Amino acid sequence: MNWPCRSSRPGHSPGRGRIFIFLALAAAFCMLSYQLVLNHGSISRPEEQGFVVIDNVVVNGDPDPAPTILPGENEPREKELVFAAMRDSNMTWAEELSWPMNVYRADVPPGEADLTVPINKGNEAMVYLTYLIDRYASLPEIIVFLHGKRYQWHNDNERYDSSISIKNLNLDFVREAGYVNLRCTWAIGCPAELEPARYLRDRPDDQGHPTAVAYPDQFRLLFPDTPVPEVVGAPCCSQFSVSRAQVHRRPKSDYKRYRQWLVQTKLTNDVSGRILEYTWHMIFGKDPVYCPMPRESYCKTYGLCNMTDYELQNQWIWRGLVLPDGWPDETGG
Ligand SMILES: *[C@@H]1O[C@H](CO)[C@@H](O)[C@H](O)[C@H]1NC(C)=O
Ligand SMILES: *[C@@H]1O[C@H](CO)[C@@H](O)[C@H](O)[C@H]1NC(C)=O
Repeated sequence: MNWPCRSSRPGHSPGRGRIFIFLALAAAFCMLSYQLVLNHGSISRPEEQGFVVIDNVVVNGDPDPAPTILPGENEPREKELVFAAMRDSNMTWAEELSWPMNVYRADVPPGEADLTVPINKGNEAMVYLTYLIDRYASLPEIIVFLHGKRYQWHNDNERYDSSISIKNLNLDFVREAGYVNLRCTWAIGCPAELEPARYLRDRPDDQGHPTAVAYPDQFRLLFPDTPVPEVVGAPCCSQFSVSRAQVHRRPKSDYKRYRQWLVQTKLTNDVSGRILEYTWHMIFGKDPVYCPMPRESYCKTYGLCNMTDYELQNQWIWRGLVLPDGWPDETGG
């Protein structure tokens, strides 16, 4: 670090009192500028996905908020949805699902929405971690983490419709597996997305893949006691379901540590969010490569068993990173 506060003044010999005052002022200046450096470090650029940094708060060991107890609720619920949404997200579609839901408005400053995040960094990851931390003591049995939009290119059904994924999700499988990715298709993420150990050894100059370059060092910050994996693979796109039992296999302090990493990182939101995208399955107990065969995954996750090869290949097809304008109406869907 460039440390600007080592100035000494050779040849100058004031009395002891003046030296003391000088040192005190210098110390105060150093502390102030260090604080500015810290704050500066927590600011990152607004990103492509519309997530904008709203504040430069550094979240640290602040006292835990009381668990949310909802009116008339003594028992934790069976299931809840958690949405990483924005101020303008229209969530009417999800209200119709009759699941209790938590809509975090990530671009709304704290205090101005029912649910938001302390700082808008890391895309959906900040929302998911904030929910896990704030609700650690009052989690439902099953949690589904999703983005706010109903139709998204990566939703794993023919209509790219999150409401279909939610309705068909096999909750018993979530109970049994602990972590279930909402995506079964391998395209993007499987069978191998990252090679962190090799990147650590060889440090390839891979400017086209900033996540792969950043991943190994960030992995060591997130999991100081775990060897850096050779290969990491999991279906993409950060929508998944977990059981309360699985969440509780880690202490709350782990989730706080991950969020603190996200608050402090200087990586851009897309890179920090993507590092966690390829980390959730490990956080929730799976091996670094977690790529179940799609046929088996559709059966267990959505009850789509006995699919023909044709059905398997057409369950999800690549249409690019943006669905056609007006989807699904424009297609007669
Ligand atoms: C929100 O979406 C619903 C359909 O889910 C639609 O009927 C409604 O008009 C939308 N509201 C706004 C403000 O766009
Ligand atoms: C799949 O096929 C097996 C054996 O043919 C049958 O027992 C089972 O009920 C089928 N499952 C579904 C969901 O259709």
